[in-house]
Amino acid sequence: MLTTEWWRSAVIYQVYPRSFADADGDGLGDLAGITRRLDALSVLGVDAVWLSPFYTSPQNDAGYDVADYCDVDPRFGTLADFDTLMARAHELGLKVIVDLVPNHSSDQHRWFQAAIRAPEGSEERARYIFRDGKGPGGDEAPNNWESVFGGPAWSRITDENGKPGQWYLHLFDSSQPDLNWENPWVREQFKDILRFWLDRGVDGFRVDVAHGMVKAAGMPDYMPPANAGSMGGSAGLDDALASGALDASGMNEAASDRPELPTPPYWAQDGVHEINREWREVLDEYDGDRVLVAEAWVDPPRKLAQWVRPDEMHQAFNFAYLETPWNADAIRRVVDASLDAFSSVGAPSTWVLSNHDVIRHATRLVLNPELNPQGAGIGPNSPEHPDPELGLRRARAASALMLALPGSAYVYQGEELGLPEAIHLPDESRQDPTWFRTDGEKYGRDGCRVPIPWEAEAPAFGFNDTGLSWLPQPEIWSQFARDSQDGVPDSTLELYKRSLALRAEHDLGNGALEWLQGYGSETIAFRNSGVTVIANTGTESVQLPAGDGPGTRIVLQSAGVDGGTLPPDTTVWLV
Ligand code: GLC
Repeated sequence: MLTTEWWRSAVIYQVYPRSFADADGDGLGDLAGITRRLDALSVLGVDAVWLSPFYTSPQNDAGYDVADYCDVDPRFGTLADFDTLMARAHELGLKVIVDLVPNHSSDQHRWFQAAIRAPEGSEERARYIFRDGKGPGGDEAPNNWESVFGGPAWSRITDENGKPGQWYLHLFDSSQPDLNWENPWVREQFKDILRFWLDRGVDGFRVDVAHGMVKAAGMPDYMPPANAGSMGGSAGLDDALASGALDASGMNEAASDRPELPTPPYWAQDGVHEINREWREVLDEYDGDRVLVAEAWVDPPRKLAQWVRPDEMHQAFNFAYLETPWNADAIRRVVDASLDAFSSVGAPSTWVLSNHDVIRHATRLVLNPELNPQGAGIGPNSPEHPDPELGLRRARAASALMLALPGSAYVYQGEELGLPEAIHLPDESRQDPTWFRTDGEKYGRDGCRVPIPWEAEAPAFGFNDTGLSWLPQPEIWSQFARDSQDGVPDSTLELYKRSLALRAEHDLGNGALEWLQGYGSETIAFRNSGVTVIANTGTESVQLPAGDGPGTRIVLQSAGVDGGTLPPDTTVWLV
């Protein structure tokens, strides 16, 4: 039962609108489709949904390139469709969080269009980060920064007279110019955008690239450690690998163990905290526990915790947890580091295993991160291909573990079905800018974004009724369809439903974790609110507690448990 500060313990389900449900049958999901399918999320037992962007956008970065922050892209519907979705969600008792993309707009936004037409030094240009080039004729970029998606982070415009003009900064795609957050005008616009959605009843915002926005004074050159270029952490996995922070296999270290690397001049600058505080004031004008959730790829957790100090945001995604391999020691350390860091500022920890930017955990947890670095994606020519059965088994164990932890957890659409990454997408179907900006060297993120299967026998597996799909769905996904798992006791869907029901019954989200000893180094064992949770990440079976006292009766198992022993890659909950 959620009372006050619902977000402290909430399970929040990420809906990726392009790929959830498609009411008009054009192959791209839409808001009306989401509304129709909301009942399934209420049945699943989540507390809230987070909607990835559905705003007006040329869709160069799947909607994270916003051309109008206060309208719905016609491909996704209308503002009226949004209101209907909100009303239905609230009727079902689901909170709704929307995405806010403040670091950059689309180059099609009217602000940017005005900026490139206005003269150098104008008010319009001052809304973005324009600079003169270096070298003869200003032909060289103003500094050496690289785009997260590959290639230079600067592009040059052509002036109306046909001559090469100034350069503008884009930490992501060239169609995503960075806004100038030193400019009070930009700040005011975003406060209005927050109010626009708060007035429509949203329960909060997931803030995209919440560690970006402010750039170091003078924008000095910076060269990230070799091979860096993940989703933008101040010390992403690639940086850690390059710095030797992970051991040779990369499989044993918690992401929270990484040394604090020098902060790049474009991430995690002190000024972002001022912005967090301004927004917090806006949210506090509204009733009903509205929340700000930081998508900030900042390591380690104790640094990330600065985003959720009492007058800043409410939650931050725990990417250190997501990036930690399936290894008991490493998981224990990242859990401890997270709980310590977040509780030191009075915030709940969050937990997340999958989202629209990373390889789905049913695939990732059996990959070697050194061979398959974060952000590179996986495709037909990747060095290593996962064992799908082991992947699913581990994913189920990892999810059952995550959903027992105190704090708030995020579930990405399709993980409740056990979906793997779609590896064999044809090259010509790929749409992630990473794929294009690295000339196909990195596959990018399309493999986790494929429309999800609802009905095994329906066109597009029930995504719509025309059979169209913006990314092709693997044939094998009929096996994962919701209707073929519904009511099937051992299915992944039923495992999630049961975990969520028990989590609510025992109020695990508001609980406290106490480690249990005596199960060996390859096992994670803890108690939370009277529930004992044991997960075996090793290769040998582990003896479970015997007898008939508390903590001996299995109420949840991620895979079959026989004869009082816990097999490898399995999690159980006992009461
Ligand atoms: C965030 C989003 C990602 C997007 C990027 C640029 O990391 O999650 O999908 O590409 O920001 O907006």
